[in-house]
Amino acid sequence: MKASALNPWLLSVAPMMDWTDRHFRYLLRLISQWVRLYTEMVVDQSILLGNRAKLLDFNPEEHPVALQLGGSVPERLAEAARIGEAWGYDEINLNLGCPSERVQGGGFGACLMLEPERVAACMAAMRQAVGVPVTAKHRLGVDEMEDYRYVARFVERLAGVGVGVFIVHARKAYLKGLSPAENRTVPPLRYDWVYRLKEDFPHLTIVLNGGVRTLEEAEAHLERVDGVMLGRAVYEDPFVLAEADRRFFSSSRQVDRFWVARQMMGYARAQLERGLPLWAVARHMLNLFKGQPGGRLWRRLLSEGACRRGAGVEVLEAALERVMAESERRLGVQSGR
Ligand SMILES: Cc1cc2nc3c(=O)[nH]c(=O)nc-3n(C[C@H](O)[C@H](O)[C@H](O)COP(=O)(O)O)c2cc1C
Repeated sequence: MKASALNPWLLSVAPMMDWTDRHFRYLLRLISQWVRLYTEMVVDQSILLGNRAKLLDFNPEEHPVALQLGGSVPERLAEAARIGEAWGYDEINLNLGCPSERVQGGGFGACLMLEPERVAACMAAMRQAVGVPVTAKHRLGVDEMEDYRYVARFVERLAGVGVGVFIVHARKAYLKGLSPAENRTVPPLRYDWVYRLKEDFPHLTIVLNGGVRTLEEAEAHLERVDGVMLGRAVYEDPFVLAEADRRFFSSSRQVDRFWVARQMMGYARAQLERGLPLWAVARHMLNLFKGQPGGRLWRRLLSEGACRRGAGVEVLEAALERVMAESERRLGVQSGR
């Protein structure tokens, strides 16, 4: 499948609670102009009853950005989707894959895979409420299910109410006995099932998620599916996306870590002015120099300095100077200077 900017789901970064907030998404957007971004899951009731600006505000640079919702009541989800669209989101996604006890307690997330009729009603109501795409993010099944036909029927049912995009975390979830983190590692990955979904439903957009670490791996999957979503690999090393625009979106743009760090300083300054602590931004920058000369030093200086009360951007400036010095020193050693 030829990678093309015409397919909005070609490459995306997964919704990750506590990680993919607006500050991390801003950082990612500096690295890639094209990759599709997802919010953390926001529960529909929080949007209906809570502080919308706090939950939904994002930076205009973040587009294309999708709002992920959690919920299981059609009317509430429809209303939350409508608000999300009015807020400017480019897509509304429904979480059908989170197995955490808290989420199960609310009756949504992965346990909804057991209730295709309810999910179909939810998605139909959301689709009716908004004009932007309404998409599903789900697993291959739950608990003891070992049946490809189940997930195929699930997809078919949702396609029946007009859902066209399915982001498939390529493993099932255990609703009891595993923590959310274990549920992202213990159930084996079954990429073959995701490929088969694409073969069986060629008219649907099938996005593969789970365990993809590099753009090379993403490219290989793109031979078989329409899109790839990366999660942990991007948080652990955001520069894994550095080549994304050139490789997948025919862009000649090139960025380096120092430029990104400097842009983030300007951004952090603006956030401080809004009254946020430096750490709200700096915590997402810890892995910016992952695997680079001075990368550990950078992480240590930020961890120690940026979480202090009243810390300012000078912590980042000082850390960057140290990393630049370390980088030059290593280059000097390598070239025998
Ligand atoms: C810290 C963390 C938080 C997550 N939060 C969400 C979430 O809010 N909604 C969701 O659908 N998936 C969530 N996930 C799952 C990811 O979206 C993704 O499906 C999973 O990590 C597998 O992809 P990966 O192997 O590329 O990380 C989370 C994962 C992590 C690591």
